[in-house]
Amino acid sequence: MSHSNIQIFDTTLRDGEQVPGCKLNKEQKLIIAERLDTLGVDVIEAGFPVSSPGDFASVEAISKIVKNATVCGLTRSVENDIKVAGEALRYAKKSRIHTGIGTSDSHIKFKFNSNRDAIIERAVRAVRYAKTFTEDVEFYAEDAGRTDNDYLARVCEAVIAAGATVLNIPDTTGYCLPNEYGAKIKYLMENVKGIEKAILSCHCHNDLGLATANSIEGVINGARQIECTINGIGERAGNTALEEVVMILKQHPTLNLDTNINTSLLYSTSQMVSEHMGIYTQPNKAIVGANAFAHSSGIHQDGVIKNRETYEIIDPKDVGVTESAIVLTARSGRAALAYRAKNVGYELTKLQLDVVYASFLDFADVKKEINDSDIHQIIEGSSIYSQIISA
Ligand code: KIV
Ligand code: ZN
Repeated sequence: MSHSNIQIFDTTLRDGEQVPGCKLNKEQKLIIAERLDTLGVDVIEAGFPVSSPGDFASVEAISKIVKNATVCGLTRSVENDIKVAGEALRYAKKSRIHTGIGTSDSHIKFKFNSNRDAIIERAVRAVRYAKTFTEDVEFYAEDAGRTDNDYLARVCEAVIAAGATVLNIPDTTGYCLPNEYGAKIKYLMENVKGIEKAILSCHCHNDLGLATANSIEGVINGARQIECTINGIGERAGNTALEEVVMILKQHPTLNLDTNINTSLLYSTSQMVSEHMGIYTQPNKAIVGANAFAHSSGIHQDGVIKNRETYEIIDPKDVGVTESAIVLTARSGRAALAYRAKNVGYELTKLQLDVVYASFLDFADVKKEINDSDIHQIIEGSSIYSQIISA
């Protein structure tokens, strides 16, 4: 079966930057954009140019330095937004305008005090106008997750006819279940006239912790782009985490879905974004958390030391982590202690290990985590130190 390429649309600098308390300056945004380009993302959503002069300047500066990715700017379906985005993107080698409007009944009634037909007219006008600045126009149907599928299909048909080449189907509120989101994408693939002229894009929020699962269901059902952020940062509970969807597709080759991401840069990119944004990544975060490749219970450590794959489904080097960590705590076993002791220079026989292990447990009960200098202290203080051979 042939492989399909999934475009990675990174919105760290737009949806990600909407995180309360996070404010990146222009220089920081440029550093992150350059890194995203090297990482291999296909599209960088650089900002919302009309929102402030600072955002305009950042999008313009990013457009000038990005070498490979398409640079994208967000707009509402408002003429001036689109004009300003067009100006901010004018230096980009490849530019995209991302315009759209709310399509759920709740958005139509409460946000716009409008009706379904009038919303389609506005959407079409916005796409046509955006096309006067760039060929590459993406349309978002905000709150598509709660939009009636028949109406959503009509919206999609109308904007494709107006020239949209990417249709973003956001689960703006993070409400959909994976099977519902997948069924929505399937419905659009099967019912939108002209769908072969565009691709569908998944843009999922994580309010119920389902953003990654929903995005994967989306691409399994025919979407060809995923919108995501580094470390899953974003409004409220965040967006789909780039590193998660990329590694899911890599670790499941039977899905036949590939990305252009250089996965060995994932860990360092995660660290870089977290430092610039001042938002620390939880230790148990999938793929890039400090504990993602750390083993601390005796049973797991014994397995990993014998063969890494007993408890690891990803080779840490594939995401840029040098090696799995064997963390020594009072829950660790002899195998882990012998392994770490060898790493710092001691070859312990079985009998020596029994003696040293008893002192190790006493030490570890007091101190939560045992580091390399603690190991030296434990071994040098043991009654059999003179008999221990250096490794
Ligand atoms: O979540 C959302 O609906 C969005 C759109 C503006 C694309 O971020
Ligand atoms: Zn969003």
